[in-house]
Amino acid sequence: MSTNRIRRWIFPLLVPALIVFALSQVSGIGHGVATQHANIDVHDKASLQNGAKYYMNYCMGCHSLKFSRYNRMAEDMGLNEDSGFTADEVNALLKENMIFTTDEEGNQTKVGALMKNAYSTKSATEAFGTAVPDLSLVGRSRGTDWIYSYLKGFYIDDSRPMGVNNTIFKDVGMPNVLWELQGTQELDKSHDESEADDHGGHDTGPKLKITKAGKMSEAEFDTVARDITNFLTYVAEPAQLSRYTIGIFVLLFLLVLWGFAYLLSKEYWKDIH
Ligand code: HEC
Repeated sequence: MSTNRIRRWIFPLLVPALIVFALSQVSGIGHGVATQHANIDVHDKASLQNGAKYYMNYCMGCHSLKFSRYNRMAEDMGLNEDSGFTADEVNALLKENMIFTTDEEGNQTKVGALMKNAYSTKSATEAFGTAVPDLSLVGRSRGTDWIYSYLKGFYIDDSRPMGVNNTIFKDVGMPNVLWELQGTQELDKSHDESEADDHGGHDTGPKLKITKAGKMSEAEFDTVARDITNFLTYVAEPAQLSRYTIGIFVLLFLLVLWGFAYLLSKEYWKDIH
């Protein structure tokens, strides 16, 4: 009797767990390239604001975020009445620092508009040999470590049309748009890839070294790359900022409901036993 009961419980619990485990393994395929840890924190509002600022200045010209609106983004990042900003102030901040696109009539894009831009697939293909992807979901499809490593992974390669290649995106069509900040990097030929296996136990991938300094120190540039990654992670799932708080309320509510249900059940059954 008791083994039967155990079986009845084990299977419904074990089978989904195994399926989830199997899926998590499969989705790991293709992430075999050596990436660096992004160490982001989507609840760090200053980091999100900084990431958004860099994104609007350096990326938005090519990559749209077609599911996001400027004013929702500002609200989520703490530019709201709770932190002492009036609606007019937020609008002014957005217009000055974040919105660099115009609508069809040539007026500056409105704060409530979607973050679209007008890079057509045709002109992108002419310029880069490929379409420029919208980056709304890249935080989920590629993952944070991948984006962070990608932004840090550009190096000089004269055989490529843009003059650069990337350690984790071979023969990439995108130019290194952050080179002025980072400086230019070259592959460190003296680094023997098998060395890492002998010493550290895991391969750290091709090594790069900065051969011409940029405007920022390495640590400053790491922060910029991290903040942009953080911003793209938020964009891929804006609701994650409020999900945890909502989750706690839901659990508290269920606890209270359980208490009442228990009392009610006792009341119903009290004459029968
Ligand atoms: C001059 C236009 C241009 C700018 C500016 C630009 N990119 Fe790109 N980006 C591209 C193109 C083109 C590709 C596609 C590359 C390919 O498929 O070979 C791309 C690809 C990417 C990808 C990979 C998407 C994927 O999943 O395949 C990411 C991530 C990315 N860009 C992030 C950024 C970020 C962050 C910035 C700002 C710091 C930026 N890009 C600025 C043109 C641009």
